[in-house]
Parts: sequence; C-alpha cells; structure tokens
Amino acid sequence: MLDSLWTPTVAGKISLPHRLAMAPLTRSRATPDGVPTELNAEYYAQRASHALIITEGTQPSADGQGYVVTPGIYTDEHIAGWRKVTDAVHQAGGRIVIQLMHVGRISHPDNTPHHRQAVAPSAIKPAGQMFTGSGMQEMPQPRALSTEEIAATVDDFRRAAAAAITAGADGVEIHGANGYLIHQFLFPSTNQRTDRYGGSLDNRIRFAVEVATAVADEIGADRTGIRLSPGNPFQLGDLTEHDTHELYPHLVRALAPLDLAYLHLAHGGDEELLGTLRELWPNTLILNRAGTDIATRAKDIDNGIADVITVGSMALANPDLVERLHPSTAAAQPATPTTPPTPPDPSPRRPRQSPPSGAPAYARQGIDAERPHAYRARVLGCDPGGNVVDHGEHPVGVRASGRVRAAGDLVEQGGRRAAVLRTVTVLHRERPAGSAPSGPGRAPPHPQPRTARATGRRPPSRPDRPWSRKGRGR
Ligand SMILES: Cc1cc2nc3c(=O)[nH]c(=O)nc-3n(C[C@H](O)[C@H](O)[C@H](O)COP(=O)(O)O)c2cc1C
Repeated sequence: MLDSLWTPTVAGKISLPHRLAMAPLTRSRATPDGVPTELNAEYYAQRASHALIITEGTQPSADGQGYVVTPGIYTDEHIAGWRKVTDAVHQAGGRIVIQLMHVGRISHPDNTPHHRQAVAPSAIKPAGQMFTGSGMQEMPQPRALSTEEIAATVDDFRRAAAAAITAGADGVEIHGANGYLIHQFLFPSTNQRTDRYGGSLDNRIRFAVEVATAVADEIGADRTGIRLSPGNPFQLGDLTEHDTHELYPHLVRALAPLDLAYLHLAHGGDEELLGTLRELWPNTLILNRAGTDIATRAKDIDNGIADVITVGSMALANPDLVERLHPSTAAAQPATPTTPPTPPDPSPRRPRQSPPSGAPAYARQGIDAERPHAYRARVLGCDPGGNVVDHGEHPVGVRASGRVRAAGDLVEQGGRRAAVLRTVTVLHRERPAGSAPSGPGRAPPHPQPRTARATGRRPPSRPDRPWSRKGRGR
C-alpha cells in the first residue's frame, strides 16, 4: 500500500533513500544562548532514518528569536553546537537541513537575548499570548522595520545559511510559513507598508524572494528549500490571508526560476490551490498534510501531488517511525505508530479544476497522450544507494502497459528494481502542421520544465512565461 514511499528521490543536491521526511518541530531544548547540545544531537540522530530531517525553527539573528531556548545559527558557539547534531545524524546515516526561522512579531522581549521590541513589517500587535520565563504573557506590539533594516535582515538569512553549511548541514529550509516574518510580509493583515515591500503582490512577495535569492546565492539553490503554508487557516498571531489564490501562485512563479531544491507546503486543506502550486513548481515538492494518517499522505505521492511527505507529531512520538513502517522491518515491530486524529476540515474545499490531482502524471504535465512522440524528456533516477543517475534524454513514449511515461512514474532502468523516474522534462514539443491547438478536454500546456537543473536551462523570465493563465486565481 505504501510502496511509493520507499522509492528514492532527490531534493536538489540531497539524495533521499525514500520519501518519508521529518517536519520541523520546535523543541526549545537549546541553552539560554541558543546553542544546541548533546541532547539535541541524540534526539535528531534517533530520527536519522527519515528521508530528510528538517530541524526545528532556528533563529538567524537575535531579532529572529521568539520562543525560549530555541537554537540560533549566527554565532561560532551555535555553529559548534549544530556541528554535534549534524555529525550525529550523518554518522547514523541521515540527512539534515536547518530551518531558518525569523519569528517577526511572534515574540516577546523576555525571550530574546537583547530584550528589545520585536520587529515586523508593520506595527500591528499579534493576537494571543506566548510562554516566557515568567509564564504566559500577551505578545506585545512590534515596531516596523525600516527599509534599510529589511536589507540587513535579508543579510542575516544569508549569513545564517552560510553558518548552517559550516556547521555541516546538508542545506537549509527558509521558514516562510505559519505566521512568522516572511509570511507577515505577504498579507495586508500584517503588512501595511507603503514602501516597495507593501501594497501590490510584487511588493508583498519581495522580501520572500529576496531572502530565497540571497540564501541560494550564498549556499547554492540546490541546498535551499522554502516552506510556505498557503491557505492554511491556522496562522500564529491570527494573521489572516487575503488574496490567497492570487498571491501564492504569484510567489511560486517568482520562486520557480531560482531552481531551489524544494518547496515544502504546510497544507491547510485548499486542494485547488495545492494543485495549482504543484503545476507551477518545477522541482521537488514536499507536502505536510497535517493531522492525517500515513496512508492518506502517501496517496499524494501516488497522485503526483507530492514528491516527498513530511510528518511532524508522528516523528516526535515515534523516533523509529520509518522502521515501524518500512516493509523490511515493519513485521518485527510490536505496535503500529500513533496517528493523531484527523482534525475537522478547517475550510470548505473548492472543487479542483481540470486536470484533477488524481489524473495521470502525463496529463498533469500537459503531454498529449495521442501524440507522445512530440515530446522529449530527460529522465533522472536513483540507484539503490540513493545516488542520482542521469538516464539521459528520451522520447516520451507509450509504455508496454499502454501508459504514457511521465514524471513521477516508476520505471526500471537496466533491470534495476529500485530505479525510479523522478523527472521528465518536456524539452521539446512540436505541433504537426495542420493539427488543432489544445482545446477543451485537452490537458493544459505543462507549466515549465520539471527541472531546470537537469537541462541546464532556466525557465524563461516572467513576462514570457507561456504557462501563466489569466483568471486562474481568485
Ligand atoms: C511541537 C511542534 C513544533 C513545531 N515547530 C515548527 C517549526 O519550528 N517550524 C515549522 O515550520 N513548523 C513547526 N511545526 C509544524 C509542523 O512542522 C507540522 O506542520 C504540524 O505538526 C502538522 O503536521 P503533522 O500532522 O505531521 O504533525 C510544529 C508543530 C508542533 C506540533
């Protein structure tokens, strides 16, 4: 049932032996100075069998801290502390990226080293209380960052990413979700700025894109991931999203040319938006379908909606989750892992537009099943050791089963069972003279090559994008 989970894949430069990864989980177990300890190393090493460990949110600067005893990654002591963690995970055979989390207004002066007022896009108080050394307290009103301070904050992310690599991490994940600083820039409920970081869609996504660009520039796009929580109704501080169906496609279109290792979505139930973002995102998509069981999450891989899934609470409660589930070891396990109950559906689900998420991969990629020979593809696979193997360029063909081969399909290459077709990049499409253009009932054109990295080409700049569809958002 969970076969698709156990096939190898890649996230940028990082080879993943399977597709069950660990979501970021704040543990508040660092020293008061934000230094990870042996305890953190033991905790992460225990979970090293996950395809990828995404660490707890880690502040890139003193301003970026919101909670007590969370780790930082901006001093030499932080780097030395994280080195213990990354060494322990690597020795246990795992892979680890450090999540860079700047909390913005979700903070309290009692919790930061400098005890100053929190910073945010605008001086808008978040709703709610947070834990401090003297108990629960209201989160106070932050002050608005100046335009110059925004540039300095982007640099903080850049330096923190470099520090994470120095500390031995395989990459970083930029936290752009859940109501923290990057998310606060995206919507007017938290961003009332009148400079080039507020107002229009372009302005509101600017900070997110600048941070991603700076981090990718510093450590390599293939070691950089980003997490977003589009349409998720549970946002800290009561951040409310406004033009969700316009903003997120706009943001993902702007991020796609950066060729980042992955996009990690904390999914809140808007299936239509999820499908749209899947179509727009060319590289590895990691999905956290909160509160659901493993079988439900694995279906997202079968359906091609996700390449990798993450689990939070289950990984917290079951360090050996992978061993419990993996076919080679599950039979020996005494108990099934705890699965948290599915929460009530937080938002009315809109019907997904064509093509549906369950459509075959070729249809979602806009490959016309009647003319598969009109497309060429690059096939990337993994060998049984999890190393990426480039199988070269091939015509997109009809397989013996009658199915059209496309990204996400499993293939056998050279008789090797573990080989998996990760990516088909539509390199070329030609319409025979006189043939009709795609019409109703035909799959829409594929948004863009599935991986710019594989082809060595970058997607075209935004105005020329053939896949931007008017009236898609709402
Ligand atoms: C204790 C706890 C701490 C969390 N800390 C973080 C965090 O630091 N960064 C983040 O992006 N998400 C964080 N999350 C959200 C999780 O990554 C995940 O999205 C959430 O738990 C829902 O997924 P699940 O059902 O797989 O647990 C946290 C969740 C929990 C329960």
